[in-house]
Amino acid sequence: MEKELKKTVLVVIILSVLVVMLTLSMAANMMLLYMWVIPSESISTIRTVTSAALTALVFMLIFDLLRSALLRRLSVHVNENLGQQILLGLFKDRAEMKKGESSVAMEDLAKVRGFLHSPIATAFLDALIAPLELAIVFAVSPAMGALALVGMLVIVATKFFGRNPIRTLLRSANQRFSVANGFAQECLHNAQTVQAMGMRPQLAGRWRALQDAMIVDQSRASEKAGIHSALIKSQTWILQVLLMGVGTYLIIAGKIDPGLMLVAVIIAGRVIQPTQVVVDGWEQYQNARDAFDRLRAFWKRLQDESQAPKLELPRPQGLLKAESLIYGVAGKVILRGISFDLEPGQTLGIIGPSGAGKTTLARLITGAMRPANGVLRLDGADMHQWDQDKLGVHIGYLPQEVELFAGTIAGNISRFEAVDSTRVHQAAERAQIHEAVMALPRGYETVLEERGQNLPGGLRQRIGMARALFGDPRLIILDEPDASLDQKGLEALEQTLRTIREEKISLVLVTHRQKLLILTDKLLMLKDGQVGLYGATQEVLQKLMLPPPKAPAQVG
Ligand SMILES: Nc1ncnc2c1ncn2[C@@H]1O[C@H](COP(=O)(O)OP(=O)(O)OP(=O)(O)O)[C@@H](O)[C@H]1O
Ligand SMILES: [Mg+2]
Repeated sequence: MEKELKKTVLVVIILSVLVVMLTLSMAANMMLLYMWVIPSESISTIRTVTSAALTALVFMLIFDLLRSALLRRLSVHVNENLGQQILLGLFKDRAEMKKGESSVAMEDLAKVRGFLHSPIATAFLDALIAPLELAIVFAVSPAMGALALVGMLVIVATKFFGRNPIRTLLRSANQRFSVANGFAQECLHNAQTVQAMGMRPQLAGRWRALQDAMIVDQSRASEKAGIHSALIKSQTWILQVLLMGVGTYLIIAGKIDPGLMLVAVIIAGRVIQPTQVVVDGWEQYQNARDAFDRLRAFWKRLQDESQAPKLELPRPQGLLKAESLIYGVAGKVILRGISFDLEPGQTLGIIGPSGAGKTTLARLITGAMRPANGVLRLDGADMHQWDQDKLGVHIGYLPQEVELFAGTIAGNISRFEAVDSTRVHQAAERAQIHEAVMALPRGYETVLEERGQNLPGGLRQRIGMARALFGDPRLIILDEPDASLDQKGLEALEQTLRTIREEKISLVLVTHRQKLLILTDKLLMLKDGQVGLYGATQEVLQKLMLPPPKAPAQVG
């Protein structure tokens, strides 16, 4: 990827040099007309010189278009090749709760792409030639060269120092805008409270005050910007006038030819414009560069990680074994020394007070997060030796907070695999929601909005359950699947759990409900991130001094 990128950039630079060289032909044209055609008074030479200049212009146009096309292609290339890889990498990093360059990778990509599309990118390329152009002016006349250089420095300095106060004001205006906007959003969010207690006028007044402060900043910024740009414009003109003055003096003094003088003035004028754009766009350039560097580091890490050998393991049986798992986030240890094992087809119940680490343990068992220490084995192989995308097919996970994705119910259940509807219906039936979904006006084609917020919580949870059951998972992890279910939903859940047992699928179940706990073979009680109790369900329940379960677990 990088090699091709470098090659394209090189071609773009060469094209830029050509474009700039050809714009110089305008100066050459003028010089020839002055120094050659006018003295010779030959009409035919006018034709020759003019058509030569026009030809040069046509080439310039072609090269310029080619350059824009290449820059566009470069940007598309960056987006296509990197975009998807970055998203895949992001999933992995987020799942493993890693922070770092990946947290801004998507914005970084947009920054790089935006920069390549912007006129600043071409101005940067044009500015590369500026020293050469200045050298030509110097060669024509050192006095004019020096004047052009000093003038340019003055203009650049004015731009550079003048923009800071404007930026500060604009930044402050933006900040005030988001404060005012945030306040308005917050008020609207609580519209009923506001309306009910007659708070509208007061809140509107406060919003107005916030808004006014923003407008003051904004108008001061635009006033300053106006003055600033007028100053720069007049400086540019002054430089031209001075160059003409000095040039004319040199002509009279017999030190320079009139044609050459004009050439020098034209070229000097050409240097100023892109330099100004570069000064304006310098910060953007730096941002794009930093973004590109971060992306490159992220990309390299992804490549290194994907080169770690992944075993092509057979379909797991569901033998699960945790060996002294330790997990922490941001320096805080959440789980410590967790060990347990589970035969294929057995069920492990996880209980414990709120904040004990049940959800964290469930997530570790899915294999999406890595323990800081210790090993989690599925069928004897370290979970992380599996290719996660391939392993995922064999795993069903219902998180505590069920979040569905924008799309249809069928798509959500099938994990967005393109499959025939029978497999979707099967999963739905195992999760006992087929009827409930069919009762919706559009059935499985019901489109979910905002992560399924348009569905009742119970149904959302049970769609999540169907998603966990989809395909033929060998290990299912359910994190409080009973949380938002009514009595009917609970009965359905019990039925689903029995089906899972009958099908000999290994199951990890986080729950507090005794009725569900008696369906487990083993029980692990977490306390402050450590194993409080662990053993056969009956024993653990007895130790907890809960009344012994009435019905024995149904053995499938
Ligand atoms: N990403 C995180 N960053 C910091 N702390 C976290 C993070 N995730 C979990 N924790 C902390 O880890 C502890 C265990 O959280 P976890 O969600 O696993 O508990 P839980 O037993 O599932 O609780 P609940 O019964 O409320 O669902 C809590 O103290 C929580 O604050
Ligand atoms: Mg939890």
